[in-house]
Amino acid sequence: MAIMTSPASLPSPQTFQPVLDRIAAEIEKTPGRGRPADYIPALAACDPRRFGMAVAEPDGTVYGVGDWRQPFSTQSITKVFTLALDLAREGDALWEHVGREPSGNPFNSLVQLEYENGIPRNPFINAGALVVTDRLQTQTGDAAETLLAFLRTESGNDQLSINEDVAASEAKHGDRNAALGHFMAAYGNIDNPVPVLLDQYFRQCSIEASCADLALATGFLARHGIRADGSRLLDRSQAKHINAIMLTCGTYDAAGDFAYRVGLPGKSGVGGGIIAVVPGHCTLCVWSPGLDERGNSVAGLAALDRFTTLTGLSVF
Ligand code: DON
Repeated sequence: MAIMTSPASLPSPQTFQPVLDRIAAEIEKTPGRGRPADYIPALAACDPRRFGMAVAEPDGTVYGVGDWRQPFSTQSITKVFTLALDLAREGDALWEHVGREPSGNPFNSLVQLEYENGIPRNPFINAGALVVTDRLQTQTGDAAETLLAFLRTESGNDQLSINEDVAASEAKHGDRNAALGHFMAAYGNIDNPVPVLLDQYFRQCSIEASCADLALATGFLARHGIRADGSRLLDRSQAKHINAIMLTCGTYDAAGDFAYRVGLPGKSGVGGGIIAVVPGHCTLCVWSPGLDERGNSVAGLAALDRFTTLTGLSVF
């Protein structure tokens, strides 16, 4: 069975390098870059003018520009991978514990949880990501290390690691996440002791990887659930489900604008990275640490917007 097809109307992959070079030149001229996340002090020092972008084809060929090999803090991008790893293990049972609707609220919001009985709206807001990590912890005994091993294998980079300084900084400033964890535990929606869960979640968010690493590691979503070694992680429907949730919830209260501008399943992190998927065709990762007021990379969004405009590669 062919893993993917390339519709004749789409540009050939050989066009990716010139497109990336053109986007980087345009971004270089853009004055406003937003501000790095300052609620985690270890991230605040990043230079907002850094910019990198990578595109990976399903066969593992990867193109890049700028700081595309520079490791950065992956943060909420990791929520896509923990979701995939947990879904692969427990299947639809997960959906008894977390929903699949956009929240329309900021990523760290608490407000919906009480009147929705401790069931988070989706797996990408912090509350939902905590539920997923909790369930992966139960399944594996070490969610963060399971995730790290997966990212290393899929990217082909065994140097990927957790930045323990960032994890400690997150823990020190993690009162909102602690509140979310304890609140859901009160509803019986968390299995593990909350301090254990928080430690796993902060370590997960503190994994560092480059645009090249993340574009490659996201490849299973372009290959409809198939891992880099050809084995199957998810069935085709599950891969579709994750892409759909990325499109509708991957950038929180900016998901509508992301779909409008970029038109791809995507997932952002406050480290300034964004991954995106063109199902059946390629995966992307862009990084620039300056964020807008909703926690998404300003230059990253602009670059993905230009990519889909210049190539016509969107799901719409
Ligand atoms: O939970 C937090 O605060 C962070 N470790 C992750 C947040 C994040 O990346 C949100 N996404 N845009």
